[in-house]
Amino acid sequence: MIDLFPLVRPLVHALDPETAHNATIKALRLGLTGKIGAEKHDPVLRCEVFGLDFPNPVGLAAGFDKNAEVIRPAHKMGFGFAEAGTVTPKPQVGNDKPRLFRLTADRAVINRFGFNNRGLDYFEGRLRTLPAARGIFGANVGANKDSEDRTADYVSGINQLYGLSDYFTVNISSPNTPGLRALQSKAALEDLVGRVLDARQGKMAAGAAHVPILIKIAPDLLDDDIRDIADVARSSTIDGLIVSNTTITRPESLKSRDKDEAGGLSGAPLMGPSTEILSAVYKATDGQVPLIGVGGIASGADAYAKFRAGASLVQLYSALVYDGPGLVSKINRELAALLKADGFASVADAVGVDQH
Ligand SMILES: Cc1cc2nc3c(=O)[nH]c(=O)nc-3n(C[C@H](O)[C@H](O)[C@H](O)COP(=O)(O)O)c2cc1C
Repeated sequence: MIDLFPLVRPLVHALDPETAHNATIKALRLGLTGKIGAEKHDPVLRCEVFGLDFPNPVGLAAGFDKNAEVIRPAHKMGFGFAEAGTVTPKPQVGNDKPRLFRLTADRAVINRFGFNNRGLDYFEGRLRTLPAARGIFGANVGANKDSEDRTADYVSGINQLYGLSDYFTVNISSPNTPGLRALQSKAALEDLVGRVLDARQGKMAAGAAHVPILIKIAPDLLDDDIRDIADVARSSTIDGLIVSNTTITRPESLKSRDKDEAGGLSGAPLMGPSTEILSAVYKATDGQVPLIGVGGIASGADAYAKFRAGASLVQLYSALVYDGPGLVSKINRELAALLKADGFASVADAVGVDQH
């Protein structure tokens, strides 16, 4: 399949970033992009994590598909799994525009969307249109900005979507909803985890299957925060952690005009810092909690570095803005070659090897 993205990129990037994104979602929904990647997966990439069987370990990160509208196209791009959301109980318009910035010279993105989404009812409706035989899908749930009980919002998301999603992500690390990241502190997290796990217990008591629940954390955490989160993850039945969301820091190296816009920074400059935090979380959890490594992945080598640092799966978003959908198959090909060159029979064999 010829990759047309390099040809259309100047046109796409001539649009303001949010318009370009909305046009991409429309094109994907209409199937205009056709079969972009290969759905054939190299067997070395197959992996089982939290009881799910992934055809490859490279997933679409949350935020690209806020309303669960392009899950099938994401699988067709070659992703081994797709995460949609963040979805909040009530529809929400998000922050004022502009709220999405391309930092082209840095191969980075800044966003301050603030959970713009169509709400749980719409999201649920979208999931009900999916065929039973589909790729792995995760629902990323959040809280409304004006909510009086944010924890109750996460519980509502899990209750309403239970049985429709292969796993859940509890997103407590967006920098664009004031106060949200305070849920990462120990007491708040224990309360949140307790209530979320009670919701699952309730579903299972009524006969539903076990659905994995993951917590997505920020890259801007101190050592004490990491220790606390690791303690909560290890002492509860939480199934994994996603490391990480966007950063509120601004590395010195940034060159682009919009580098000081408020919001979360993602893409290439996040690769180093998010991999360091991943490594610290792997150590703090003694490798006992499955981790999804996210932040700055734009090549097979980047993905491989996350596995070696302790990730069992990876996700990406920002690199798609610069490299287009053909990137997914390329990363999978490069990753398979790197694993084989180092004599690994599977992704699982490479997890955390740089830590031992
Ligand atoms: C435009 C944009 C919107 C995002 N929205 C969400 C979101 O709604 N929920 C979430 O958990 N993460 C969101 N993220 C964070 C990504 O899922 C990911 O954690 C982060 O961008 C780092 O990965 P990357 O460098 O590959 O983009 C968003 C990222 C971007 C660039």
